[in-house]
Amino acid sequence: MQVPFNDLKLLHSGLKKEMLTEIENIIDNSSFILGQGVRSFENDFAASIGVKHCIGVSSGTDANHLALWAHGIGPGDEVIIPANTFIATAWGVTLCGATPVFADCEEDSYNIDPADVERKITSKTKAIVPVHLYGQTADMDKLRSVCNGRDILLVEDAAQAHFAEYKGRMAGSFSVAASFSFYPGKNLGAIGEAGALTTDSDELDSKFRMLRDHGSEKKYYHNEFGHNYRMDGIQGAVLALKLKHLKLWTEQRRQAAKFYDVKLSGIDGLILPKEMPYAKHVYHLYVIKCQKREELIQFLGENGISTGLHYPVPLHLQECFADLGYKHGDFPQTESLSENCVSLPIYPGISEEQLGFVCDKIKHFIKSL
Ligand SMILES: Cc1ncc(COP(=O)(O)O)c(C=O)c1O
Repeated sequence: MQVPFNDLKLLHSGLKKEMLTEIENIIDNSSFILGQGVRSFENDFAASIGVKHCIGVSSGTDANHLALWAHGIGPGDEVIIPANTFIATAWGVTLCGATPVFADCEEDSYNIDPADVERKITSKTKAIVPVHLYGQTADMDKLRSVCNGRDILLVEDAAQAHFAEYKGRMAGSFSVAASFSFYPGKNLGAIGEAGALTTDSDELDSKFRMLRDHGSEKKYYHNEFGHNYRMDGIQGAVLALKLKHLKLWTEQRRQAAKFYDVKLSGIDGLILPKEMPYAKHVYHLYVIKCQKREELIQFLGENGISTGLHYPVPLHLQECFADLGYKHGDFPQTESLSENCVSLPIYPGISEEQLGFVCDKIKHFIKSL
């Protein structure tokens, strides 16, 4: 049996006809950049997250940049981010010319540790960017209280957390602005590059719209420096269509995770992901820890099961940040995760037969040790 890590062909097979109709509409109307397709997606996504505004942009990385850039963050400023995340969280900071300051993750949630964030605050700290990693929200109340009484912005990186909840509210609705990615493999994925920002602020909404479109509100009149961070019309139209299925796909991911939770619990040598009491996890990734992870990955691969690593090198040990002076040992939880993590196959439509096969092979591997 083959078990891919993700299966976009399967996801799209039932939607292909409708997707092609949407694409045809865009071609017929020549609304290739922004336009009605993007506008209706923005409205639907804002409503489903429970915020006033959604601004479609060209990628999650660009959304990360815009979220900080719009607040005037620049050279000399520090922004605290988790050491355990995808590199694009850091690009949001470096593209502004500011300095990323890393914080460790919690042992149980794998999300940024508010206590370590507190330790990293200096007079230069301008923002904190928690990432709702793997599909589970960071502890937003604790992070908010770290910011209380200080002039520090809280900006969510919700790239992996579409429809994830914290105490009954959706990720992307907890901070002054939040960024999303619609990279194809995400829980809500485009058929190319796309991202978005969400916010309740009318002022920020206008600012984001202006910055994403060459610093311009009116064509050829440029109020500020800007960039071309616009969303394609085709991506907006396809995302609006796929958004209608996201609730079901989220439930399917949760069911798959439950299957793993039950079948793999109590096995010596495996640590399973923990859904925190405050969170509704959407399992963008199902990340386990295993000290024999290289051997496990090889064994699963030999049996037709694909796995992932999220992430093999934490940000503080990336070559591009060598000048910041971090070293091995600085972030014990993050490093333990990077050395032992394995992401198991999870996607809407993965069958019980496939899930059972993965679990059987993992058990077989552990027994053989
Ligand atoms: C946590 C996180 N932030 C930001 C991004 C960047 O998104 P994109 O690939 O759409 O630029 C990603 C995507 O992979 C991500 O996982």
